[in-house]
Amino acid sequence: MALNNSINLHECLELVTRLSRQAGKLIKTRINQKKMIETKASSIDFVTETDQEVEKMLIEGIKHKYPTHKFIGEESFAAGIKENLTNEPTWVIDPVDGTTNFVHGYPNVCISIGLVIDCEAQLGVIFNPILDMFYRAIKGEGAFLNDEPIHVSNSKCLKDSLVSIEYGSVRTDEFRSIVNHNVTYLNKNAHGIRSGGSAAWNLAMVAKGACDLYVEMGLHAWDMAAGNIIVKEAGGVIIDPAGCEFELMNRRILAAASKELADEIYPNLKQYFPEHD
Ligand code: IPD
Ligand code: CA
Repeated sequence: MALNNSINLHECLELVTRLSRQAGKLIKTRINQKKMIETKASSIDFVTETDQEVEKMLIEGIKHKYPTHKFIGEESFAAGIKENLTNEPTWVIDPVDGTTNFVHGYPNVCISIGLVIDCEAQLGVIFNPILDMFYRAIKGEGAFLNDEPIHVSNSKCLKDSLVSIEYGSVRTDEFRSIVNHNVTYLNKNAHGIRSGGSAAWNLAMVAKGACDLYVEMGLHAWDMAAGNIIVKEAGGVIIDPAGCEFELMNRRILAAASKELADEIYPNLKQYFPEHD
């Protein structure tokens, strides 16, 4: 029997909805307060005590109900707790996606929680507590924003599209020149370019049809575990930016409103293949 047949995804959703709303209160209170900031993988890869506290709250709350489930969390990973993705039910958590935004008081800040079973996301929640936007999806049941169904846009080509791309937190010249190339290519034809500063937020924007495409290479599983299922359930397409099948642990994503749009864009991108976590 597939593992997800024995798990009630609606009960899981109920739990993480409650936990993220609770944790969201903390983020909303703290965003305009002075923060203690530390750095992780690069000089612009930030962590605050709120990131750590929120991750602890979420993991403890989920563990209480599902003690055998596994966890991949951004801050646990940074603290040296490295869990490989297996077929077991695994909660992939980013407690504050958009930490740089959070540090600066810029409101694109999201809690992102995905439940991955057999290496595929079955449930995703993205909550922006500052703007009170709660996105959710369960596999096969559609995607919702604050309980209203959402759908990707109708865009099928770059010349009709608004696109998101990020410089992320990698600080090498090689990486910057790859992103510069991709920004220049996208900027030649698109309606405009956006950088939301939160992968989860960028994915939510594609899911709600406010943005037509998002591409990033160098992010992590916790940035996209929830967003990839929300985009797919909203009718969008998720691929690897090289045109092959998306894999959560490969640190690369291209989300598009349509297959036509994804197929137009990916062959023109310069590729960056980050090391696996
Ligand atoms: C980052 C954000 C950013 C993306 C980076 C991520 P964090 O996550 O999602 O938009 O460009 O790749 O690492 O550090 O704010 O949780
Ligand atoms: Ca993140």
